[in-house]
Amino acid sequence: MILPSHLSVGDGRLVIGEHDTVDLAERFGTPLYVTDEARIRENFRRLSGALTAHYPKVSVLYAAKANGNLAIFKTLASMGAGADVFSAGEVALALAAGMRPESLLFNGSSKTPADLALAVEKGIRVSVDSPDELRQLDATAARAGKTVDIAFRVNPAIDVPTHPKIATGLATSKFGIPAGEILDAYREALALEHVNPIGIHCHIGSQILAVEPFAREVEVLIGVARDLIDIGVDPAFIDIGGGLGIPYRRETDRAPTPEEYAGAVMPVFLRGIRDLGIEPELWVEPGRWLVGDSTILLTRVNSVKTAHKTFANVDAGFNLLVRPTMYDSYHEVVAANKADAPPVREYSVTGPICETGDILAKDRMLPTLAAGDIIAVLDAGAYGFAMSSQYNSRPRCAEVLLADEKAALMRRAETIEDLTAPMVTPPWQA
Ligand code: LLP
Repeated sequence: MILPSHLSVGDGRLVIGEHDTVDLAERFGTPLYVTDEARIRENFRRLSGALTAHYPKVSVLYAAKANGNLAIFKTLASMGAGADVFSAGEVALALAAGMRPESLLFNGSSKTPADLALAVEKGIRVSVDSPDELRQLDATAARAGKTVDIAFRVNPAIDVPTHPKIATGLATSKFGIPAGEILDAYREALALEHVNPIGIHCHIGSQILAVEPFAREVEVLIGVARDLIDIGVDPAFIDIGGGLGIPYRRETDRAPTPEEYAGAVMPVFLRGIRDLGIEPELWVEPGRWLVGDSTILLTRVNSVKTAHKTFANVDAGFNLLVRPTMYDSYHEVVAANKADAPPVREYSVTGPICETGDILAKDRMLPTLAAGDIIAVLDAGAYGFAMSSQYNSRPRCAEVLLADEKAALMRRAETIEDLTAPMVTPPWQA
């Protein structure tokens, strides 16, 4: 078992940061998401440092959808991150964490009139996804007597080696405007009074374990920048999105390092802007790389059953971590209270949801398990709690943040009352 540097084994138990995971499970209860704040800071420094080593004008916009806890936003805000925001909720969290409106980019292919009005009101730049949206945004800004800075989302038609559900820059994907048609959109924006086209935005997909697609993406964006200069736009920023993957299978995944990522994209970017004689900011929107490995999900074994195969039935299922069910994603699992016991038997770690697909980890060799044991699901910090639900009417679990020797709730567990609180009795049932 290969562990990242913030996880270790001590006295036969899995340790995160300075904390014994079994003690955390006892103290806060299970299921439980546990995040190591220091790891997020370390990840931020590493990724940001790898890029700024090539070029100083780099801004890191945290992809807020990866993990929406306010404490996580605050950690990243304190490091100087802005955010890629996709909803009014993400805007509210980013601003509450102290991020400045100018450090946000409001993204999305289906913004509501209220989203557009919010961006205008707060002075948040918008990544415009279609000419239709452009006209709506211009009208909204006109009504408010303001001008809004925008980018267009480029669809570069680049295939990426990842799960098809999270490839976003394919010719057939719902995001953005084809690179070949985007100049018309910029021309239209130039002719409108209340939008100011100053940037170029793109995001090709997520969990990408190769660097070449990013280099190709940057080439496409430099091509767009060249066309923009021809029509009189000097791009103030080029946003290449997020998508750098992490090694969920540490034994076998070959994941590019941030230095390799920077080493692939920055020369293309720097050569491109030098040839064009421009000095735009480079924006990146990492989500998974910043928070993915910072967090584990602790879950307790309710029962063990052998019926054709052996199941460890645990108290967290796809209500709390949907990635394995939704994308067949692999997450490493560790028997937290038997962390140095030899793996002797094959288990499927299955949740409490009434669906066959509720499998957190399939056919894994683990130590002998029994009711009461604690399983840690690793790399659960990105799109983990963020995609949780109350399916099967299960309240969501708590989230704990660790900083050195400190451990505290950053979200309390929901209760049954939280489930029913928003429900309203139709008058004829009262
Ligand atoms: N920028 C934009 C515009 C995005 O749509 C996304 C992710 C990101 C940045 C951040 O991508 P990252 O660096 O985290 O790969 N739920 C899926 C992933 C969905 C990603 C959605 N967009 C999963 O669990 O794998």
